Amino acid sequence: MKVMVVGGGGREHAIIKKIKLNKNVSEIFALPGNGGMQGDATCVNIGAKDIEKIVDFAVSNQIDYAVVAPDDPLVLGAVDALEEKGIPCFGPRANAAIIEGSKVFSKNLMKKYGIPTATYEVFNNIDDALKYLETAPIPTVVKADGLALGKGVIIAETRDAACDAVKSMMQDKAFGKSGETVVIEEFLTGPEVSVLAFTDGETVVPMVSSMDHKRIGDNDTGLNTGGMGTVAPNPYYTAEIAAECMEKIFIPTVSAMNAEGRTFKGCLYFGLMLTPNGPKVIEYNCRFGDPETQVVLPLLESDLLTVMQAVTEGKLRDAEVKFSDKNACCVIMASKGYPTEYEKGFEMTIPSDISDNVYVAGAKLSDGKLLTNGGRVLGATAIADTLSDAINDAYGLVSRIHFDNAYYRRDIGAKALKAREEK
Ligand code: AMP
Ligand code: GLY
Repeated sequence: MKVMVVGGGGREHAIIKKIKLNKNVSEIFALPGNGGMQGDATCVNIGAKDIEKIVDFAVSNQIDYAVVAPDDPLVLGAVDALEEKGIPCFGPRANAAIIEGSKVFSKNLMKKYGIPTATYEVFNNIDDALKYLETAPIPTVVKADGLALGKGVIIAETRDAACDAVKSMMQDKAFGKSGETVVIEEFLTGPEVSVLAFTDGETVVPMVSSMDHKRIGDNDTGLNTGGMGTVAPNPYYTAEIAAECMEKIFIPTVSAMNAEGRTFKGCLYFGLMLTPNGPKVIEYNCRFGDPETQVVLPLLESDLLTVMQAVTEGKLRDAEVKFSDKNACCVIMASKGYPTEYEKGFEMTIPSDISDNVYVAGAKLSDGKLLTNGGRVLGATAIADTLSDAINDAYGLVSRIHFDNAYYRRDIGAKALKAREEK
């Protein structure tokens, strides 16, 4: 069986390593992949947003199954285009990917179907937005409607900061068309939990919960990033909370999408905040999270490709989806300076005995050497019986990986460990 994975980061590397374990798989192509996936997949130089070329490649190479991992191609309709050519896919069609592609859509969906989320107002006129901010409760949260590389959310601690955020989005077009419409919403507090769930539109199977570390600096300081590390499971997410989320959030969301004629098939990501008034949805993503995937999939004991195919075929109800009850920790090694300016092109060394634990996000091969080629370079994941061992082991892996100007947070998992000890 020939499998194609669209995307090129650490998340895709984690998906590929898991799919590779299926004995029916003869070849895996990554579009575009990256130099660090050598040995796991054949990288094909086609960008993840180039839908036409992706489809041509799939057809001419007789791809049997395609996984579309990143948000952009999903929102652009990669799954629709592949399915039109008869290629079975994992991932939602464009009409369902809008749950991530438009915050206005997702907020209105939650309001219409009574799914708990922050209260909000939508503005497509800057004067109305600024007028609203004159009396809005502060802090407040300003969000660009469309995709903005994870940067379209501004937590404003003051009225001036909120106005600046609105001006930068609506007037200066900091996020292009994505910011022409903004959502201004209630500021919520509480621990955050990421829950990825398989769904075929009928059955919902949540995966093990996880905790992301979005800020660049230790103790959650500094700029937001694509994610600097993760642990799973998330100790704040108790069995009781999980049951509440299933009843009030997960099933209602999947039903709501069906009722709207936008059946969601694939991995639905629930970004949750456990507020004093119960769990609420901060955001939906229409795909696996990065770097959540790098801790969640290593704990999956069932065969990933089989589960994915069950989702595609609408047979998730009959599939076995089993997770280990161990703990996982992933520490991201980035280029110093990320998420703003950084240098690339430094040679990387990853000892071969730990390469199974390393998910490469930004690297390229040049004359047989592996060079850094991005802000987030790789993630090292360890699994252990206890969270504390998983954290120590992940940092043990990091200490054996080298490249100049490497930067990583020293406190991945520390908050989770504290929460666990306090229980
Ligand atoms: P997002 O890009 O939607 O994941 O948002 C980035 C981060 O902003 C989230 O992980 C939260 O930490 C924070 N955030 C988003 N919305 C809210 C909110 N309504 N209240 C408090 N924090 C929020
Ligand atoms: N880790 C958050 C995301 O994938 O959007």
